[in-house]
Amino acid sequence: MTPSALPEGDPAPRDGMLPEAALVGAGARGLSAYVHVPFCASRCGYCDFNTYTAAELGGAPGASREAYLDAVAAEIGLAARVLGTTRSLDTVFFGGGTPTLLPAADLGGILASLRDTFGLSADAEVTTEANPESVTPESLSALVAAGFTRISFGMQSNAPGVLRVLDRTHTPGRALEAVGWAREAGFGSVSLDLIYGSPTETADDWRRSLDAALSVEPDHVSAYALIVEDGTPLARRIRRGELASTDDDVQAERYEVADQVLREAGLDWYEVSNWSRPSQACRHNLAYWRGADWWGIGPGAHSHVGGVRWWNVKHPRSYAERLAVGDSPAAGRESLSAHERRVERVLLELRLAEGLDLGVLTGSEQRRVPGIVSSGLASLVGDRLVLSQRGRLLADAVIRDLLD
Ligand SMILES: C[S@@+](CC[C@H](N)C(=O)[O-])C[C@H]1O[C@@H](n2cnc3c(N)ncnc32)[C@H](O)[C@@H]1O
Ligand code: SF4
Repeated sequence: MTPSALPEGDPAPRDGMLPEAALVGAGARGLSAYVHVPFCASRCGYCDFNTYTAAELGGAPGASREAYLDAVAAEIGLAARVLGTTRSLDTVFFGGGTPTLLPAADLGGILASLRDTFGLSADAEVTTEANPESVTPESLSALVAAGFTRISFGMQSNAPGVLRVLDRTHTPGRALEAVGWAREAGFGSVSLDLIYGSPTETADDWRRSLDAALSVEPDHVSAYALIVEDGTPLARRIRRGELASTDDDVQAERYEVADQVLREAGLDWYEVSNWSRPSQACRHNLAYWRGADWWGIGPGAHSHVGGVRWWNVKHPRSYAERLAVGDSPAAGRESLSAHERRVERVLLELRLAEGLDLGVLTGSEQRRVPGIVSSGLASLVGDRLVLSQRGRLLADAVIRDLLD
């Protein structure tokens, strides 16, 4: 993921090299790649991601599709110099922005370059995000032929009024049609992204969106409460009183409905905002949450290798300029202390259905566990702490109460 604001961190070296300690034991850890495609046909009023429309880029040659593709190829070369090429990629994820705004041949070309450089594990999961209006049966077949195995469509809602509030340009039926095309093209796994709790959404809108999504039998669903990000057109419309604010209680109710409806349809939660059929969890996201190594390619992309995190410059032009002269595109980085890595494990693992290994907690934190269990927010499954449905709604508060 590439959220809009970058952390400050420390300066990153121009050659992109990592401290030796980050690579100790790397051979035993999984490796993933994320490719950020920072282009969208138009900007949705709620979205704070690092993405640009053609008008925002203003035709600058340094920010063209060609410059982007050259820079991505150069960053793959940099990753190979820094990491070596003995580890193959377990998962690859193209996110955005709108990856499918690029021709399928471009996405296939980047994947081929990753495959040629690192190799893909035998059962590698290769996902692309896609906007429903930006795919055709032909483009989807080309993606499967290029090696993509999984696709995640940004459906968001099936209610025309909600899609309008979100500035989405697809019609309700389009996402469902695209799922059919993806199946025919041969994608082994299809996911739908939904957003709940938008200002004008009714309980009925949400229920019908879930029913519509389930009517095409997705393997996986991500459902996110709408976040009103500062500085977005949506935030301004709410401030001006044109739209109502989002409501935490309403969003909590919508979450409970989603959890029940999805479970009844055979999709179980495996992370607070993610549900899947058995063995269809997104392995790429699990790799993030379990602390694997991943290299994020593209403007604003974040990476993590052995406790060192770094993030690229955000603008496509500065990204391409850095790589064109052989420099790393990293804007900053940080090495996590043992304490920070432990806290991070608690933050990430407690949000997973497999739960948090109690061994990660300090003695005083372990002594808080019975209180959390008796208040109904979590239960113990063997030596792991697993959130209840109410605990998932209050995950941030549970983590705050648990940590020293
Ligand atoms: C950044 S988008 C990229 C994929 C694609 N362009 C799309 O819009 O479907 C990835 C997902 O993030 C979620 N998302 C983005 N901004 C959000 C916000 N402010 N609140 C909740 N979810 C958001 C949406 O569900 C979206 O499907
Ligand atoms: S299409 Fe996706 S990435 Fe692009 S602006 Fe909309 S939500 Fe953001």
